[in-house]
Amino acid sequence: MERERERERELIKAMPSIILALLLTPSSLCCILLSNIYIYIYKRMVLQHCMHILPYYSNFASICQILPRLLTFVCFVLFDQFLLTISETNLEARATVTSGWLQEEMDLRKTRHGGFRFPSLPRAGYGEAQLSPTFYEEDCPNATSIVRAVIGEALQTDLRIAASLTRLFFHDCFVNGCDGSVLLDNSSTIDSEKGAFPNNNSARGFDVVDNIKTALETACPGIVSCADILAISAEASVSLSGGPSWTVLLGRRDSTTANRTAANEALPAPSFTLDELKASFAAVGLDTTDLVALSGAHTFGRAQCQFFSDRLYDFNSTGSPDPTLNSTYLETLSALCPESGNGSVLADLDPSTPDGFDADYFSNLQVHYGLLQSDQELFSTSGADTVDIVNSFSANQSAFFESFVISMNKMGNISLLTGTDGEIRLNCSKVNEDSYGSSATLIAEY
Ligand SMILES: *[C@@H]1O[C@H](CO)[C@@H](O)[C@H](O)[C@H]1NC(C)=O
Ligand SMILES: *[C@@H]1O[C@H](CO)[C@@H](O)[C@H](O)[C@H]1NC(C)=O
Ligand SMILES: *[C@@H]1O[C@H](CO)[C@@H](O)[C@H](O)[C@H]1NC(C)=O
Ligand SMILES: *[C@@H]1O[C@H](CO)[C@@H](O)[C@H](O)[C@H]1NC(C)=O
Ligand SMILES: *[C@@H]1O[C@H](CO)[C@@H](O)[C@H](O)[C@H]1NC(C)=O
Ligand SMILES: *[C@@H]1O[C@H](CO)[C@@H](O)[C@H](O)[C@H]1NC(C)=O
Ligand SMILES: *[C@@H]1O[C@H](CO)[C@@H](O)[C@H](O)[C@H]1NC(C)=O
Ligand SMILES: *[C@@H]1O[C@H](CO)[C@@H](O)[C@H](O)[C@H]1NC(C)=O
Ligand SMILES: *[C@@H]1O[C@H](CO)[C@@H](O)[C@H](O)[C@H]1NC(C)=O
Ligand SMILES: *[C@@H]1O[C@H](CO)[C@@H](O)[C@H](O)[C@H]1NC(C)=O
Repeated sequence: MERERERERELIKAMPSIILALLLTPSSLCCILLSNIYIYIYKRMVLQHCMHILPYYSNFASICQILPRLLTFVCFVLFDQFLLTISETNLEARATVTSGWLQEEMDLRKTRHGGFRFPSLPRAGYGEAQLSPTFYEEDCPNATSIVRAVIGEALQTDLRIAASLTRLFFHDCFVNGCDGSVLLDNSSTIDSEKGAFPNNNSARGFDVVDNIKTALETACPGIVSCADILAISAEASVSLSGGPSWTVLLGRRDSTTANRTAANEALPAPSFTLDELKASFAAVGLDTTDLVALSGAHTFGRAQCQFFSDRLYDFNSTGSPDPTLNSTYLETLSALCPESGNGSVLADLDPSTPDGFDADYFSNLQVHYGLLQSDQELFSTSGADTVDIVNSFSANQSAFFESFVISMNKMGNISLLTGTDGEIRLNCSKVNEDSYGSSATLIAEY
């Protein structure tokens, strides 16, 4: 809020230079010139005739006067259209526009509205942009179905991908908000979150995100953010797996930064106690019900032995297994994950319905079949307020689904970049500056 206000104040202060910048764009210079020519021609040649042709209605006199201005306006619009067409083929508007602010504003209009753009002053409520279910309705009406189709295809060969993509959204939102930062690769300016402990060799689905982005860039170039791709992907993954479907709120923009240290700090670990889990959710504004509902996403997907094998052999440095682990389940898991065996072997997070999205996760917890410590803690911490929630979700799948959707929307709303903040990445794994750098030849060819 404070930041937005500050930005508004900055904008107001910058107004004179913005107006100057508007006047100095090639399109406006040209239009000022043309409008003078028009006015001259109309005054000398057309205006008098115009008055004669339409003498009977006084309103028409003013139409005659407005005509030159109307033509100027059209000229203005056409020129901006022209500039933006050039920018669409990779010569950025930046190159032709003198003010950084104006370029940002033009980028925004380019991404928000397919056609018809002309310089305007900031909208009312600038910086308080909210997500909207219809954000891409005009510019990419099929965005959701395109994402869904790519995921549906990926599911044909990889049932696990639904859980992996849902997890990516979670790992994006918990680290400096839902801004697609988790997707960025290491570069000279990016300290990739992919290398953070909770992601390294476990976060997956980046290839599917790339395929989605490619499909979207083909259908509607430069429109759909990578952060929104993750949000839509999570919904598609859950609903394609038998879970609830919901209307995804859209309009997130992509970060130009990533922070590996922040990822290490913000993401809850599988060995977290209930208090630690609550703290890490509270840190991003999520409450206990959100914690339990979102943990329900462990109704599908896998986890590697290395993330729970301490529970099988030497829990909390006691030299014995975790007492909250069902002894039958302990046997199964020990066979799968022998002590000092291959830590990358996978176990189902929900042993009863591994790939279906349902309430079984909660009934598993009731019989001590939670795979990770952070799962079982929700039910086995004595006196915890999470126990009743687990019981209610276990008894009533609709109640779980309903809560899950509410919590997903809350999570999808953490620290967003909207309006003119951030960018719409062309390639989800790198910031546009790096994309432009590598496509320098393309620009040169043009
Ligand atoms: C959206 O997809 C439908 C079919 O999936 C297709 O008929 C329609 O042309 C698409 N619309 C746009 C704007 O691409
Ligand atoms: C990413 O780059 C940083 C330095 O910029 C380096 O310390 C780190 O090891 C790199 N990570 C990977 C996965 O390459
Ligand atoms: C990520 O895992 C690889 C092994 O696959 C390891 O070489 C690398 O150091 C790890 N990165 C970090 C940042 O721990
Ligand atoms: C990255 O995150 C850490 C921990 O939250 C923070 O201390 C640091 O300032 C951040 N770095 C950048 C460049 O924002
Ligand atoms: C682990 O042991 C410590 C004491 O050594 C104890 O305070 C803590 O509650 C234990 N954690 C769990 C999850 O049992
Ligand atoms: C460990 O298990 C993973 C997953 O099953 C497998 O890809 C990998 O090859 C195994 N590594 C070794 C050393 O056996
Ligand atoms: C362990 O699991 C079995 C089902 O496999 C169940 O009948 C039993 O109640 C569970 N034990 C505990 C302590 O939850
Ligand atoms: C299950 O939960 C839903 C949604 O909260 C509620 O409408 C319904 O009444 C509940 N069913 C039962 C049997 O309690
Ligand atoms: C998202 O957060 C904004 C404030 O940042 C709030 O006004 C809005 O109501 C929130 N939306 C949802 C769906 O939680
Ligand atoms: C995005 O950039 C990465 C790294 O340069 C590259 O490997 C990948 O193929 C690109 N993806 C697309 C869809 O172009």
